Amino acid sequence: MYRIGIIGCGKIAQVRHIPEYLANEKAKICAVYDINQERAKEIASALNAVSYESVDALLSSGLDAVSVCTSNDSHAEIAVKALDHGLHVLCEKPMAVTLEGAEKMVEAARKNGRILMIGQNQRLNGTHQRAHELIRKGEIGKVISFETVFAHSGPETWSVDPGKNTWFFDKKKAVMGAMADLGIHKTDLIRFLLDDDIASVDAKIVTLDKRGSDGSLIAVDDNAFVIYEMKSGAVGTLRASWTNYGPENNSTVIYGSEGVMSIFLNPEHSIEVAKKNGERDYYDVEVMQTNDNQTSSGVIDAFIDSLDRGTAEISGEDVLESMKAVFAALKSAEERKEVRI
Ligand SMILES: NC(=O)c1ccc[n+]([C@@H]2O[C@H](COP(=O)([O-])OP(=O)(O)OC[C@H]3O[C@@H](n4cnc5c(N)ncnc54)[C@H](O)[C@@H]3O)[C@@H](O)[C@H]2O)c1
Repeated sequence: MYRIGIIGCGKIAQVRHIPEYLANEKAKICAVYDINQERAKEIASALNAVSYESVDALLSSGLDAVSVCTSNDSHAEIAVKALDHGLHVLCEKPMAVTLEGAEKMVEAARKNGRILMIGQNQRLNGTHQRAHELIRKGEIGKVISFETVFAHSGPETWSVDPGKNTWFFDKKKAVMGAMADLGIHKTDLIRFLLDDDIASVDAKIVTLDKRGSDGSLIAVDDNAFVIYEMKSGAVGTLRASWTNYGPENNSTVIYGSEGVMSIFLNPEHSIEVAKKNGERDYYDVEVMQTNDNQTSSGVIDAFIDSLDRGTAEISGEDVLESMKAVFAALKSAEERKEVRI
């Protein structure tokens, strides 16, 4: 039985980590911590776990692993501390808010011989797994280009502390906006689907519409428009948005030499493959978790399997490459030029 601690007891901990640990018979949540002590105590009492008054106290309580579910600014510091305490770490995305922070996490996992997994749940979705297999099998031939989108109406209704004062809009706590919140998912997904890495980035990252409680535009981006050139030569676009006030868009289209694969675009079928010769194949695999429809993400089972195996699924080292592309996109937007990775 793995003894688990939860650090940060907000929405993602409540709707994903906690229920998925409870459903896994090899895990037991023994400890929780949140800067909001009242929240931590409530969660602890519901779980029959212990609520600690500091991260250090929790880390010294004899755990095997922790989930880091705090706001973005603290991921790296807490993850490194936990790894240095000899614990395994599952950290929410975005992995860190600086490249240096992400690199320190990878180094701490290596130095301490512990698992560092990042909660890039899009990779584990059954539809994305099937799409990956089909692309590998050559179903659409050689990949030429792609469009990937993650767009919804914003995180202010999602957080456990909802409203226009959400930390997601706070430059100090979130550091980055839609690009890091949603863009990291699709950056990581494209690397996964294509078994390819990002070579260069051109981006425009802006704040177009989202306003805080004082009525002024928020200090982090609400829209990102990115062009990725892959090492294979394929070129595609990524759009991340918090200002899609219609139905959520979580789609990816891959254009290959033999056909086009649309993922989560056709509402009837999770994958549609339109072949060059006119044939169409449909695959109905699994819906994607959305803010309003939480299905089991598989992240916790994959983490527990990683602990059993001794190697991380979705390792920090791997996701560091996705983070490099996100930081390169921000740099490209700031300097208005292409950035090579
Ligand atoms: N994988 C996904 O699809 C996904 C979805 C949503 C959120 N997330 C990520 O999960 C993280 C948490 O987001 P959320 O939606 O749960 O936010 P939330 O606002 O609902 O909850 C955050 C919680 O963390 C606590 N907290 C903040 N800083 C802390 C610190 N230093 N120490 C201890 N507790 C701290 C807050 O008090 C709050 O209870 C974010 O990094 C977010 O990007 C991932």
